[in-house]
Amino acid sequence: MGFPEGFLWGGAVSAGQYEGGWNEGGRGACRMDYTTGGTRTSPRYATYVLADGTEVKAGREDRLPEGAHWASLPDCYYPNQVAVDGYHRIDEDIELMAEMGFKVFRMSIGWSRLYPTGTETVPNREGVEYYRHVFENLRAHGIEPLVTLLHFDTPLALEQSCGGWENRALIDHFVRFCTTCFMEYKGLVRYWLTINEINNLLSLIDFFGGGSDEAYQLAYQQLHHQFVASAKAVQIGHAIDQDNMIGCMIASAATYPHTCDPADILAAEHKRQENAYYCGDVQVFGRYPVFSKRLWDAHNVQLAIEDGDMDDLAAGTVDFYTFSYYNSNVVTTHEVTDTVGGNFQVGARNEYLTYSDWGWAMDPTGLQWQLETLYDRYQVPLMVVENGLGAFDEVVEEAGEQRIHDDYRVDYLREHVRAMETAIENGVDLWGYTPWGCIDLVSMGTGEMRKRYGFIYVDMDDEGRGTLDRLRKDSFWWYQRCIASNGEDLA
Ligand code: BG6
Repeated sequence: MGFPEGFLWGGAVSAGQYEGGWNEGGRGACRMDYTTGGTRTSPRYATYVLADGTEVKAGREDRLPEGAHWASLPDCYYPNQVAVDGYHRIDEDIELMAEMGFKVFRMSIGWSRLYPTGTETVPNREGVEYYRHVFENLRAHGIEPLVTLLHFDTPLALEQSCGGWENRALIDHFVRFCTTCFMEYKGLVRYWLTINEINNLLSLIDFFGGGSDEAYQLAYQQLHHQFVASAKAVQIGHAIDQDNMIGCMIASAATYPHTCDPADILAAEHKRQENAYYCGDVQVFGRYPVFSKRLWDAHNVQLAIEDGDMDDLAAGTVDFYTFSYYNSNVVTTHEVTDTVGGNFQVGARNEYLTYSDWGWAMDPTGLQWQLETLYDRYQVPLMVVENGLGAFDEVVEEAGEQRIHDDYRVDYLREHVRAMETAIENGVDLWGYTPWGCIDLVSMGTGEMRKRYGFIYVDMDDEGRGTLDRLRKDSFWWYQRCIASNGEDLA
């Protein structure tokens, strides 16, 4: 059996973590541009300047005070401003992806490249033509674009002028942007994802702990606006081109109970409902699930839903379900001191698993479990659009050549490919696999470059030093063989 013919092997990046060129081509800013680098143990900060000139490093939930503006501070480094310079090096990178045999490339369109402040009535032509070139070049190399419309980069001006997604006005601004994309790239792009890891709005509150009712109220309301915006985009995308396939994208850690105490079983199931099914159900089934009431009541959430919203949700269901999968997580109602976290999930350490250098549980069986349970629930095609090992890489000189022996990454990927194969054999309709950061890029969580995921190494460090040259790692050749054999040659 194995992988079906036409399986979409590829890789994934996002505009904000890959492109750089933050103030070129008429692009507007987004919050990531003014966010400093951090580490596993020290947070990233968004920075701003008060009306009186005082410089401030903002906490995660801080609002911009009256009269202040987001700004780069002289003693800080902002890794996303240059990122890995994909904006200028995309053609070189497409050559490398084609050499690996990619069938698909998941990337995102920077909203503020097309609509610098988010409120313009016509798009920035330079931005529109930039992505047209990218899609044409991908197609010329036989690579299908898979395009995320929003990957954590809402234009900063929208956050400043109307508060971001808590404001209903964002729905229309996003839909205008999506409509432009569907019209401009009709015939060039067929696979779309509306909003990356939409469920992170909720997971983030749990991850940082101590979330207030106000924080949940805000997150659920923001999510409602995103659901409606996504559903409207799906309807418009289908109307513009009936060949468009439009999916959702959910961050998806497998969630296990720590013990067989029934309270742990229930807690794990409730966590899974909150973290994954709440968003998946709305986007696939087109309605809020029954357990929503329990989630809302737990935090006194009063959702503002307008006439027509429920009709939009029902009419704008997605064609396929995609998710990121890096790790699993353990939930318990018991007191535990040894906790670990990964990709916005935190829980008890799992004694059956090993952990990455950044403390993320490595669990290929969890991927099989996710694929089988998600397909059973949703019965629409699936795609794993993020997966991979963030690890330190070392460049060594051998016979005058620079090499990166990343066998640890190959080990991780090999087991996850096998897990996908087993799930397919068990009946799951899986369309494709796009490992994250196929070219090294800036970590979203920590802002580090040294947390590398790629098959392609980028010469850039955490202080912005480096040539930005690309090097093939050992995993590059492994993945090339894997794709050429349609997942059979994993040695
Ligand atoms: C997902 C995001 O949460 O995980 C990516 O969609 C992110 O943007 C990826 O980069 C890996 O997380 P990190 O923190 O290692 O970059």
